[in-house]
Amino acid sequence: MSIADENMETKLNIRPLHPALGAEVTGLDLAVPLAPGTFQALHQAWMDYLVLVFPEQALSDGQQIAFARQFGELEVHHQDIIKSRAAPEIFRVANVDDDGNLMAAGDPSVAQISLAQRWHTDSSYRPIPSMGSILHGIEVTREGGETWFTNMYRVHDALPAALRQQIEGRKARHDFAHLATLAPIKPLTEAERQAMPAVWQPMVRQHPVTGRKSLFISPIYNDAIEGMADEAGLALVAQLAELAGRDEFIYRHRWSPDDVVMWDNRCTMHQVTPYDLAQRRVMHRATIIGDGPVVAA
Ligand code: SIN
Repeated sequence: MSIADENMETKLNIRPLHPALGAEVTGLDLAVPLAPGTFQALHQAWMDYLVLVFPEQALSDGQQIAFARQFGELEVHHQDIIKSRAAPEIFRVANVDDDGNLMAAGDPSVAQISLAQRWHTDSSYRPIPSMGSILHGIEVTREGGETWFTNMYRVHDALPAALRQQIEGRKARHDFAHLATLAPIKPLTEAERQAMPAVWQPMVRQHPVTGRKSLFISPIYNDAIEGMADEAGLALVAQLAELAGRDEFIYRHRWSPDDVVMWDNRCTMHQVTPYDLAQRRVMHRATIIGDGPVVAA
């Protein structure tokens, strides 16, 4: 690996991973601050490929946070059970607790992180949803536990006319508390509820950088669609999620230890494939705050 320092531009090696989205980037040490020209090239690659994979990046939490901060401020999760004690900007996607012990399969935290096995985009329930996420695979599973990403620009462009008509100009409600209806997670405290009231977001959004339109849903948080009865709204979200799950739109990431994967939450969804909960899986995520409210397209 060629090592850059913050004053020296690095030529990125970019290898596309799937026709719809995803590219592997090598030749960069993420622990070193990016030179301005390198940042620009990397940002452009992110806009072009939506998901970037950086193999062999043995980052400390502090280095991961510093890398992520070059793109924007970071979210601090509103629940204590998820955020790291040592570094609050780290969201622990793990079936291992903060003391390093494997949790029981029935633990409410495991139930909550297992909801990531359904399509979603991170923090869509915030008034300003996340721009992007950066996930470091620290302990990865031998089988299962893959992360799949779908290109929501392409999903939008492929919508059949009848579906398009149903969603254009409409809003969907995104509610963090909806998770509690899907799995036996730890009941939210009053403070957690008040921190994240439900929000209505446009179902078709315009990307603030590329200007492109994408479908914006997040099925684990969506509990209602404007102007529709609850059941019909949920059925519509399920139909859209099924379309988003078509092979042609998906890059499937199989993890190796110390992979770092960075994705754009404004134009992708992701989900994890099931894995044996007796195997340890420890992933640390830094979540970049969005640059403004969602713009309807
Ligand atoms: C997430 O949904 O942010 C986590 C994805 C993963 O665990 O691979």
